[in-house]
Amino acid sequence: MGNRLVHRAYDLEPGRESLLREALAGLRRPQKELPTKYLYDERGAGLFDRICKLEDYYITRTEASIMEANIGEIAKCLGRLVALVEYGSGNCKKVRHLLDHLDDPVAYIPIDISREQLLHVAEQLASDYPDLEVQPVCADYLSVLDLPASKRPARRRCVYFPGSTIGNFEPAAAQFFFKHIRGVCGRTGALLIGVDLQKDPAVLHRAYNDREGITAAFNLNVLERMNRELGCDFQPARFYHYAFYNPGQGRIEMHLISRHAQTVRVGDEAIPIAAGESIWTESSYKYTLDGFARLAAAGGFKTERVWLDEQQWFSVQYLVPD
Ligand code: AVJ
Repeated sequence: MGNRLVHRAYDLEPGRESLLREALAGLRRPQKELPTKYLYDERGAGLFDRICKLEDYYITRTEASIMEANIGEIAKCLGRLVALVEYGSGNCKKVRHLLDHLDDPVAYIPIDISREQLLHVAEQLASDYPDLEVQPVCADYLSVLDLPASKRPARRRCVYFPGSTIGNFEPAAAQFFFKHIRGVCGRTGALLIGVDLQKDPAVLHRAYNDREGITAAFNLNVLERMNRELGCDFQPARFYHYAFYNPGQGRIEMHLISRHAQTVRVGDEAIPIAAGESIWTESSYKYTLDGFARLAAAGGFKTERVWLDEQQWFSVQYLVPD
């Protein structure tokens, strides 16, 4: 490939075999499920970008307004000569605002599972920020154990994890993820993280059941992806998108519900699905500030700063190893 601007450190995009293996394992369970990360192929990543612009989906614009209002303080927390590591960099839109305010950042290491998008946006960033070393890593978050070193030495590493992607983790997995990040950043590291908060369930419901049906298309796309990449024979019209807030667990659950009794072929297996049966595709946890601080503490992080919007719907938090 003729890309000269960015140095590709890792290329660990999970391939066809892991998609098949993990999909089958999930579909054999009593509560059928598909790994959430498989929502984000090229088409899924594009649909997610559209979700972020929806009136009904408050997360992206609320987080952006918090970043906007507090960017000076945030940049000061991160300090000079930082190597910024972003987990789930997506279209890299959010990080530009941050980069524009940081004091001489040394490197930007975007980590994402959506390979085409990652390489494309890394190229663009590298040409827009000539003094910044851009080192994209295509991988599943937890498979990244050591990060590429930058040519100019960094004073510290800071992980940027916006958008409340942490909400996709089960709380126990989130705690594990904090420990993982501690290991990747070391004692001088930091974590700048966007965390969605518990709120009126009607607001949550709207956000995951948007009136334009983009979230439904995003959810159903995982079936089309399996058809494309694994030659499965899912008929998306035989399923519907179903998302609801589970207040006991503090999470949105997103499912695909089978409209009929049907059998689908996945690899060499015929998977029977009953009428009304669900395939669970995503959880999105919503936290209280206290609940999140406890989770972070259990993972070895101290909550140093919390910035909120006026309605207290979303938080941007600066955490340091404790
Ligand atoms: C990327 C995990 C933050 O949970 O709000 C949006 C994904 N799913 N609409 C979220 C998503 C359905 C999103 N996160």
